[in-house]
Amino acid sequence: MGSGFFVTVEGLDGSGKSTQVSLLSEALRADGQLVTVVRDPGTTELGERVRRLLLNPGIGAPVNRWAETCLFLAARAQLFHQVIQPALELGHTVLSDRYLDSTLAYQGARGISWKPLLELHRLCGLDRFPDLTLYLDIPVDRAQRRRSATIPDRLEAEAVPYHETVRSGYLELARRFPARVTVVPAEGRAEELAGEIRALVWERMAEGRAI
Ligand code: TMP
Repeated sequence: MGSGFFVTVEGLDGSGKSTQVSLLSEALRADGQLVTVVRDPGTTELGERVRRLLLNPGIGAPVNRWAETCLFLAARAQLFHQVIQPALELGHTVLSDRYLDSTLAYQGARGISWKPLLELHRLCGLDRFPDLTLYLDIPVDRAQRRRSATIPDRLEAEAVPYHETVRSGYLELARRFPARVTVVPAEGRAEELAGEIRALVWERMAEGRAI
């Protein structure tokens, strides 16, 4: 019961997170592991619909920060209870492109403190934290240059100081939860980064087995 390993990958938009999730899932599968890959918000029908709502830049009036938070939590509750928890119980390695630390960093950057955000997670039955969180760290200007070819979604369209606050939030999370959150400098080439990430994940999984 609940024996799978749960890895989340976090970072600013443009940090190369989704590429790394995909490379890591290939490596885990090549190692013979059963892998479930998800994205948050998303993956479930409900989560994908909430995602479209949340990221749509033309949603009308400015989205209230608590409304935004509750929508992210709704998508996550559906994702965890429908997909992540059953997969962990089957012994899968679960790989999530974003998870609770995105809420702590992004909604934290809206001025909501972590205490109520963590309490909301507990109330929604989301107190199974990841075993390992990889935060791909990259300066804001670099991240923005990397994604300048795409039309920004509602969150991406926020001004630079907001994204700076998000980045500081992630770095603070790594200081506060060092056993779970690892900072991975992510400015280098994708293949080299993938190698470093594989080494980190394998090491942590081996420690988990030894306990
Ligand atoms: P993505 O395209 O990397 O999946 O990111 C979706 C956007 O939603 C991204 O700008 C970060 C933001 N976000 C939050 O603000 N709070 C959250 O809890 C999550 C999961 C994402």
